[in-house]
Amino acid sequence: MTASESTTPGIRLRPEIAALPPYRQGRPAPADGFKLSSNENPFDPLAGVVEAVAASAAQINRYPDATALALRERLATRFGVTADEVIVGAGSVALIAQFVLAAASPGDEVVYSWRSFEAYPGLVTVAGAKSVQVPNRADHGHDLDAIAAAITDRTRVVIVCSPNNPTGVLVTAAEFEAFMAKVPADRLVLLDEAYREFVTVEASVDGADLIGRYPNLVLLRTFSKAYGLAGLRVGYAVGPVAILDAARATAIPLGVTAASSAGALASLEPAAEAELLERVAALAERRDRLRSGLIAQGWQVPEAQGNFVWLPTGEQTAEVAERLFEASVVARAFPPEGIRVSIGEEASVDILLGILGELVPTSQEGRLN
Ligand SMILES: Cc1ncc(COP(=O)(O)O)c(C=O)c1O
Repeated sequence: MTASESTTPGIRLRPEIAALPPYRQGRPAPADGFKLSSNENPFDPLAGVVEAVAASAAQINRYPDATALALRERLATRFGVTADEVIVGAGSVALIAQFVLAAASPGDEVVYSWRSFEAYPGLVTVAGAKSVQVPNRADHGHDLDAIAAAITDRTRVVIVCSPNNPTGVLVTAAEFEAFMAKVPADRLVLLDEAYREFVTVEASVDGADLIGRYPNLVLLRTFSKAYGLAGLRVGYAVGPVAILDAARATAIPLGVTAASSAGALASLEPAAEAELLERVAALAERRDRLRSGLIAQGWQVPEAQGNFVWLPTGEQTAEVAERLFEASVVARAFPPEGIRVSIGEEASVDILLGILGELVPTSQEGRLN
């Protein structure tokens, strides 16, 4: 009997919730180490963004405009839509939860690739719905044909993650178009593009190009990764008003703070955004350098289009993660599949190549593209 069972004998919790593992954050790194476990942006926040967030503190006795109208208007202009076609949430993960709650009732199905973002299974369970996980292809990308084939009468939501966290492989525009042609128009498709800004492959799907084309498509983006605002919790989605209104209805009220909106708006100021996107380019270059170095050592690293690389370490996952930890590098281990290593400080690249060069597994699942 666990401690909670012994102290709360009369509390009837939903069994599927009680059985859920709590969301696991990346392990903290030692003071002089590298925290490469949460796909965070290693650059310090811009001074202008910090100032805007600090200035918002003068009003914290007031509730925020939790619809983040000013931010929605700015994003709407960018995407060529109305402000009602944009929703802002406390991180894109909150928005994913809102959409799933809006569309899936108990017993309904939510289909997505696996392995993918570790928050998906929990969000689906909380909604009372059932996850249908479709295994990634051998190259660690989405098997969109199999995902389309997994759609049943009970399916209410399909989540497509491009580039996929944690494997890094993207969905191409052509693959996505072929996929959408197979999805019934009354089933919601969430295109999770949390890492879109790091993509350097032309052929990639780009949700921005698809706005207005499909009545059932919503794209999700975040300020957490490319814009370096993970701690502020602000993400957004663009899609048809009726779907977004449903997600507004399932939101926990007042989730978006004035500080979040202020930080996001300051990041979209032209000079600030230009600097942030330069950083993104530097991180993408660092990622490509790390991946090429690993491949030269014999690692089978799949296409990496986010701010991270995937190491298919299989049964050796725990061992490799521990060796990295001993060298003050905290990565995210998914035993017995692999390890995701975020692209962090420049100094981490050589350290990673030094350690990982000695640990190339003898057998690696999957194959290169
Ligand atoms: C694929 C994917 N989607 C969504 C998120 C959520 O990001 P946030 O809630 O910080 O916007 C993450 C964060 O790691 C992610 O990897």
